Amino acid sequence: MSCALILLAAGQGSRMNSDLPKVLHPIGAAPLIAHALQAGASLEPEITVVVTGHGAELVEARLAKLDPEVRTVRQTEQLGTAHAVGQAKSALEGFAGDALVLYGDTPFIRPETLDAMRSARISGIDVVVLGFEAADPGRYGRLVTDGDALEQIVEAKDATEVELAITLCNSGVIMADATVLFALIDAVGNDNAAGEYYLTDIVEIARAKTLSASVVRCDEAETLGINTRTELANAEVAFQTRARAAALEDGVTLADPATTYFSLDTFLGRDAEIGPNVVFGPGVTVESGAKIHAFCHLEDCHVSRGSIVGPFARLRPGAELAENTHVGNFVEIKNATIDEGAKVNHLTYIGDAHIGARTNIGAGTVTCNYDGVFKHHTEIGADVFIGSDTMLVAPVTIGDGAMTASGSVITSDVPEGALAIGRARQDIKPGFATRLMAKLKAAKARKINEAG
Ligand code: UD1
Ligand code: MG
Repeated sequence: MSCALILLAAGQGSRMNSDLPKVLHPIGAAPLIAHALQAGASLEPEITVVVTGHGAELVEARLAKLDPEVRTVRQTEQLGTAHAVGQAKSALEGFAGDALVLYGDTPFIRPETLDAMRSARISGIDVVVLGFEAADPGRYGRLVTDGDALEQIVEAKDATEVELAITLCNSGVIMADATVLFALIDAVGNDNAAGEYYLTDIVEIARAKTLSASVVRCDEAETLGINTRTELANAEVAFQTRARAAALEDGVTLADPATTYFSLDTFLGRDAEIGPNVVFGPGVTVESGAKIHAFCHLEDCHVSRGSIVGPFARLRPGAELAENTHVGNFVEIKNATIDEGAKVNHLTYIGDAHIGARTNIGAGTVTCNYDGVFKHHTEIGADVFIGSDTMLVAPVTIGDGAMTASGSVITSDVPEGALAIGRARQDIKPGFATRLMAKLKAAKARKINEAG
């Protein structure tokens, strides 16, 4: 059965107390809306429509980067959830199949849950609603059931005492045939406590038309919506807990799981070993068997098999480590490819560079890549030996098998196999230190005598 996804993301999220639209607040370094898209992606939707409103420009710009195929429609006035879903109708013109309504601020719906909803649809239920037993039903819509059948959803604001006592609540996730859904929405009015067009009213309308409705249940944690900074912070913790468990399950060693921080798209291969206090920003891939020692920060980078990183290393966007490389303590790498077996072990900055296979970069090396306006490239060949404290003033090329003397400032290209020395020549003055020291000590003794 083909499926379309409708994501509601027009609400203001005023309780976040933020200039940033709610659905752009991050969990696991990815905006809430990316989590919702990922959740919906398990149904392999043919079309995804996001309904934007508050902060629409920002949300649409971010969506275009996340997935250019996603369609967006604007809801200029937030008149309620039914009205919001109704905005997606034009974007789904000609689409035949099911529509799944998800909220952009509800990041944790599991693929298994959406599968169960699809199964309910396949078994012939017309309107499938995702419900959960709420520990504190509070403001949630209540699901009024009769056996397996869902009769009505009553919003808390409109509920009677008896209805408020119901603990089975509406998550907001609904699945129905798209054409049926839009027809039902057309019949929704706004004669209620909030004066809003409630999506939840479609259940009663469907029943009146002798269509069937029922509830698929999930855990409350899955339907967790984000409304406040506290909920966002709690959701981050929940996300990290799940990501750590998933990594362990996938055969990754985490020395101290509670101090490993994941992004939504972090990929760690089997038998990768991660030390304590490691942060994975977005876009990180660590292949099988690579080791990341304690206190490393990685972002938009790739670490291949057999490589060892850290402790205390920072891999910034575009760091590409081939197999069996070593990147040691207090090393920063940005937009640079390190070929197989190369070593950058101590106190070094490598930016906008390529380092050839088996090359050794000495302690304190800096690729001086920035002239204040432009960035320049440093090309270092294979089997090169860069002496400690070499400044490589880019653009510059070091040929295969070349060496630089430690302390050199390299401003011009070094041919293959050559040694480059770019430093002041050393001068020896015999006995000078002994004489100088004696003079200084005598001066100090005189000063103490005068003062006493
Ligand atoms: C809604 C449900 C309620 C359910 C709860 C679960 C309705 C009428 N009520 O209530 O039964 O228990 O969610 O969290 O559906 N939105 C728009 N445009 C609008 C209104 C809302 O895009 O005009 C979006 C919001 O950004 C949000 C979602 O729809 O992502 C839900 O809206 P919200 O105002 O939070 O609904 P609730 O009152 O929480
Ligand atoms: Mg809500």
